[in-house]
Amino acid sequence: MKTDSTPTHTAVAPESLSTQLQYQTGSTGIQSLVMEGADLNALADQFGTPLYVYSAQHIIDAYQAYAQACEGLADATICYAVKANSNIHILALLAQQGAGFDIVSAGELARILAAGGNPAKAVFAGVGKTSDEIRFALEKGVGCFNVESEQEMARIANVAQSMGVKAKVSLRVNPDVDAKTHPYISTGLKENKFGVSMEAAPQVYRFAHQSPWLEVHGVDCHIGSQLTDASPYFDALDRVLALLDQLSAEGIEINHLDLGGGIGIRYLDETPPSPKDVLPALIAKVKTWAQAKGRSMPTLSFEPGRSIVGNSGVLLTEVQFIKQNGDKNFAIVDAAMNDLMRPAMYQAFHGVAELQKDAAKPSQLVDLVGPVCESGDWLARNRNLHIEQGDRLAILSAGAYGQTMASNYNSRGRCAEVLITQGQARLIRTRETIEDQLRNEIGL
Ligand code: LLP
Repeated sequence: MKTDSTPTHTAVAPESLSTQLQYQTGSTGIQSLVMEGADLNALADQFGTPLYVYSAQHIIDAYQAYAQACEGLADATICYAVKANSNIHILALLAQQGAGFDIVSAGELARILAAGGNPAKAVFAGVGKTSDEIRFALEKGVGCFNVESEQEMARIANVAQSMGVKAKVSLRVNPDVDAKTHPYISTGLKENKFGVSMEAAPQVYRFAHQSPWLEVHGVDCHIGSQLTDASPYFDALDRVLALLDQLSAEGIEINHLDLGGGIGIRYLDETPPSPKDVLPALIAKVKTWAQAKGRSMPTLSFEPGRSIVGNSGVLLTEVQFIKQNGDKNFAIVDAAMNDLMRPAMYQAFHGVAELQKDAAKPSQLVDLVGPVCESGDWLARNRNLHIEQGDRLAILSAGAYGQTMASNYNSRGRCAEVLITQGQARLIRTRETIEDQLRNEIGL
């Protein structure tokens, strides 16, 4: 993952991140940043800042790139990873496109139900599913549990038995490959908490296979996030197919492969593979394997999150003050680490662009920081920007793991969200008020 380090960064052109972002030059020579044709500065006037704004067309195009990469493969499912951005309007948009969903909590299941998503096309992952969550998922007819331990397999069997139903399960295996990404978002190494090792997997499958309350559906493998190199996918697939051969020799036939998510996006100058660079080659590899073994082609699913929504969204913010401390200039903006956690948590790099770019204004080298009482509350470092107090900026590539990781730290209300569809902006989440925050603090 690109980290934001001390040398001065060259500006990121918003156009290089999404075809839906452009600068338009007005009669005064000032350039306005527009998304799907909607002027972002006007949206900041209308809805206030900080504000998340997303392009529906970007999301549709990104989803369709996956759907098209699976063309010709019957029953392939693209299960959008809800954790990347869980606004129900975005989930509804994806459900309309035919997406399934990758969920990790009862809350995410409730969201896809609220959005009109099909629970039968949902897979339920996560290392710590409670009995209540498992029961809720069985009641709602979730398609499959991606099981992360032997203990969880036993718990699902118990809950299914208590309800007199059979639960469909896939085992999430940990193939021990290095996804070559940030350590916090690398999940396929032995030392990660995710999944079951290849050595331990057969034993867990045997248990599931003999249980009358479990139906062994498939195998699941997700190795990490923000992958910019496709080779770890192929290494992981080799290991998964070897496991399937081993299980087949024992009479346990697996006919479904969930190959996870993780394809990266451009934040600065990365050149991540596109779905069509990765999926057809993975599919071909599975086909070759199936033919060689004389078995039918397994069904496949994928779990992309970031690559669907990451570059669909920007976080708009307004410069409150520009302040000099020692050698450094700080642009203090009204967005903060509680709104976009990624820089504070991973030192992640996000591009920054002026909403109204006026080359006549002198540019200054600034760190973009928020009002939260933490030195870690920064959003971008060492950027040359044509700004003065009161100007607005877009923090780019903020559609994934932005609002979903937001908090109320410093008793700040979470941002409003706007979705642009064919140039029309619609408020899809209101700004959180102090009444919203105090509602659950009862009894004083
Ligand atoms: N499937 C599973 C089992 C996952 O754990 C994840 C992400 C995905 C799919 C979706 O991965 P994606 O296609 O979005 O890379 N907060 C971090 C990212 C955490 C990713 C967690 N798992 C960030 O802001 O970079």
